[in-house]
Amino acid sequence: MAHLNVSSICKSFENTPVLLDQSLEVQEGEFVALLGPSGCGKSTLLQIINGLVPADRGTVVLDGKDITGKTGAGRGMVFQGADLFPWRTALENVAFGLEVMGVGKSERLKQASHYLNLVGLRGFENAWPHQLSGGMQQRVGIARAFCIRPSLLLMDEPFGALDVQTRDVLQDELVRIWEAERKMVLFVTHGIEEALYLADRILVFSKRPAHVLRELVVPYERPRHESMKLDPLFLQLRREISDLLRHDMNA
Ligand SMILES: Nc1ncnc2c1ncn2[C@@H]1O[C@H](COP(=O)(O)OP(=O)(O)OP(=O)(O)O)[C@@H](O)[C@H]1O
Ligand SMILES: [Mg+2]
Repeated sequence: MAHLNVSSICKSFENTPVLLDQSLEVQEGEFVALLGPSGCGKSTLLQIINGLVPADRGTVVLDGKDITGKTGAGRGMVFQGADLFPWRTALENVAFGLEVMGVGKSERLKQASHYLNLVGLRGFENAWPHQLSGGMQQRVGIARAFCIRPSLLLMDEPFGALDVQTRDVLQDELVRIWEAERKMVLFVTHGIEEALYLADRILVFSKRPAHVLRELVVPYERPRHESMKLDPLFLQLRREISDLLRHDMNA
């Protein structure tokens, strides 16, 4: 059974504590959003889970395996800027993870092209990153993360740099792809509305050193529709989270 267990993570940078005994779990098929003020440690936590930044203490267990401090294995990551390799075509970027895993060329290109189609980029296989718009690059980044069939997707403000219209379209596309495969997702965002629209559960972090101010199970079934953003309960929850964050900032 897919499961993420992050337990008692501590991390300081130059004696400044950023994460103090941070724990969280993600269940199979669950989409969890992390909200919190700038600088509170969200990206640091994701990088620790991804194995790219070492924790001072604590463990990360994915699907029963201790992966603390290890990269690769079961995780796909999407960043705010798509971070594509400029010297690789869109298709080769998507296939990159499979190449690292040793999958043969024709097989990995076949799988990469499947995911490129899923994100709506059929026909752009041979495009270079600089020929793609920001939204298209982000789509390639999403296809690349899904292509390795990770157990867990780590997404760090993946739509933060996009215009509102492109972001809305990509939110719906992400949900459509996610609903087909139901990977566990940890999704960092500054958008309260985005978190409520996308996630099953939201963790609201305090300012640094981060602790969980509120855990909220989003009370909406799937599939969800744009219209829920105008629902009185949605507006009320958005307001509550916004007040909570503002109150914490001023505390
Ligand atoms: N490599 C590093 N060296 C020193 N300090 C760091 C390093 N990485 C992060 N920090 C500090 O740790 C704190 C948390 O940073 P982090 O990037 O995790 O915040 P964040 O919650 O992702 O913020 P944002 O919402 O702005 O992306 C910040 O105060 C930052 O300055
Ligand atoms: Mg960040």
